[in-house]
Amino acid sequence: MDLNIQLEQYAQNLYQHTLKECSKEQVYVVLLNYVKQALEDKEFIKGNKKVYYFSAEFLIGKLMSNNLINLGIRKEVREVLHANGFDLAEIEELENEPSLGNGGLGRLAACFLDSIATLNLPGDGIGLNYHLGLFKQVFKANKQCEEPNPWIDDHSWLNRSFKRYRVDYKGFSLHSVLYDIDILGYHGNKNQLHLFDIETVDENLVHDGISFDQSNLLKNLTLFLYPDDSTEEGKKLRLYQQYFMVSNGAQMILEDLKERNIPLNELDQHVVIQINDTHPSLVIPELIRLLMLEGFTIKEAISLVSKTCAYTNHTILAEALEKWPMSYLEEIVPQLLPIIEALDAVAYERSHNHKVAIIDENKLVHMASMDIHFGYSINGVAAIHTDILKNSELKDFYDLYPNKFNNKTNGITFRRWLLSCNEELTDFIDSLIGEGYKENADELKKLLDFVNDEDVLNRLLKIKTDKKKELAAYLYNHEGVKVDADSLFDIQIKRLHEYKRQQMNVLYIIHQYLEIKRGNLPAYPMTCIFGAKAAPAYTLAKDIIHTILCLSQIINNDPEVSPYLKIVMVENYNVTYAEKLIPAADISEQISLASKEASGTGNMKFMLNGAVTLGTDDGANVEIHELVGDNNIYIFGVDSDSVIAHYENNDYSPQILLEQNPELRELVDFIVSDTLTSVGDREALERLHHDLTYKDWFMALLDTKDYIETKQNATKDYKERLNWAKKMLVNIAKAGYFSSDRTIKQYNEDIWKL
Ligand code: G1P
Repeated sequence: MDLNIQLEQYAQNLYQHTLKECSKEQVYVVLLNYVKQALEDKEFIKGNKKVYYFSAEFLIGKLMSNNLINLGIRKEVREVLHANGFDLAEIEELENEPSLGNGGLGRLAACFLDSIATLNLPGDGIGLNYHLGLFKQVFKANKQCEEPNPWIDDHSWLNRSFKRYRVDYKGFSLHSVLYDIDILGYHGNKNQLHLFDIETVDENLVHDGISFDQSNLLKNLTLFLYPDDSTEEGKKLRLYQQYFMVSNGAQMILEDLKERNIPLNELDQHVVIQINDTHPSLVIPELIRLLMLEGFTIKEAISLVSKTCAYTNHTILAEALEKWPMSYLEEIVPQLLPIIEALDAVAYERSHNHKVAIIDENKLVHMASMDIHFGYSINGVAAIHTDILKNSELKDFYDLYPNKFNNKTNGITFRRWLLSCNEELTDFIDSLIGEGYKENADELKKLLDFVNDEDVLNRLLKIKTDKKKELAAYLYNHEGVKVDADSLFDIQIKRLHEYKRQQMNVLYIIHQYLEIKRGNLPAYPMTCIFGAKAAPAYTLAKDIIHTILCLSQIINNDPEVSPYLKIVMVENYNVTYAEKLIPAADISEQISLASKEASGTGNMKFMLNGAVTLGTDDGANVEIHELVGDNNIYIFGVDSDSVIAHYENNDYSPQILLEQNPELRELVDFIVSDTLTSVGDREALERLHHDLTYKDWFMALLDTKDYIETKQNATKDYKERLNWAKKMLVNIAKAGYFSSDRTIKQYNEDIWKL
């Protein structure tokens, strides 16, 4: 039936209005109901074997535009709405963004679900339905404050399922409820994201920002993602959450096999569990326990589970490799303890090496160790990261199980990060090379034929400028800052963490500010844009945000400086914001300390949208560098081997650097200058100053000089517009490798074998 007539029918049924008579909010609900029905009508992807992607985070973003694209009706819907006086972009804007993730880890999970369905592979996500999300970031007095981020309303993509399970904790049980979100492949069929929850969660428990009674599990279990774990109660709450996720997931998997009359001893032939980071690691002992209840011996159960589970490592930072005290497990899930002890014994029997123990001498249970001993595949997320795992971080494990280790360089879904967020560029690419690249991203290489075509290069520049104008208008409306769309847009958006080194970008900005004040004007005016949330208990990260906000206040209001330099830190950075920022970027900031960023995926999104990377040879930057060549990327900084050597030899000293380098000292000292303290909190600024001066654990000062010089070279090059456009074109043309369709194909061929 004609789309127009169908939408009219929904409008009639829901509101007794014609489409034209509906408010924008009503049009959104009309469209939501229409699309949900279209998804409902799609078939589930079927197959003999299915992957379950267990993840604490799924940063899925708004779903309307992607569903319209995957249904193949976005253009048609736009026309129908337009004919009725509505703008699709405005309607899409009304959707609440689900707050189910934190950073790259969760966004990767979302891209993977999209690609799994697109490749027509059976694969579902398993996670939790956090009512108030991570948190909503608001700025007050140049500081980050946290507020709840409620995102579920009467009109969401969640479908209530009839499935329920009992999850036992010491002394009590919780009964789950399940919400599913349909995940549609591009022009294909669907899988699901399963989000477990409990009925009794009470959002009114939350007061004064994001504080709440951490002991009241019946009311708080699924309130927040990553509840504050600076207290013992907070830590335990995270453990309660993790067990809830994995026990529900494992029960659902076994139930499904039984319904299909598949004997449970064939588990590994029909199921793969991909453990995304260590948060879902308890699925291993839980599945063993459940199989034992079904009559398997522990030996049989361990063997079966070891052939079913695979683990992805996303970081080498020790803080993120979880370790749970045995006492917590005893207190919360005592039923798992004997199993974990048995696993530890098996691990010792195999290795005779305490360095790879599951339970250490301090009675801490190492989740990653359990994953590696009892998973059949261990993968890193970029080539350099996997090498570091094999050769240093997890070397003892690699020596024990060389065949388990493999690399799967991350990817991104082009449906969201090109087709949806940059329709202008998509249409232009279509006009040059056809649409084949939408199914086979490698075809983007065909763009290289146009690298000397001035018309094409000028059109690319024009599209970029248009996206910058759009962003400038949005920033004016949302942040109250006027930026010049003709300036160079330099963008750093990612979680705030010292290893990602937003503080080094701060030092660059201070350098530019001081230079402009001295009359040394930059080669080109620049707008430096940041987006980042800091974990609520991570003081230094919040200090860095504070410093950026103070700098923006000083610089943007200084008539001498602001024509050449503007600073914007966007509030509550999320997927929706990223979709507006990335198409408008000229320079993509990827400046982590070499060896520390496992992969990064923002770097890929920027590249695909024609931004040029300024970065260290770290994570997937290394592979971007190889693909685009030296002329189309700006690489600086010490390499990862030297960084690792500095840590091993313990010979890095910011103090010595500062003594030898008065210019560097001037930049660092500016953080506590009268200029900054006049608008900032002295204590916070001093803390950052002190840290950079005496600790600088992620060696920002080591790379600052090289960073500033390289950024200045890039700024100079930016003036040569056509030459810059060539760099843009090469980046887009070479981005095909970073399609998550490629990544998922490799997961399937090497690990899942669906
Ligand atoms: C983490 C890693 C990042 C990697 C991502 C997905 O993301 O740090 O390098 O690309 O997982 O594998 P983060 O949460 O830091 O953004």
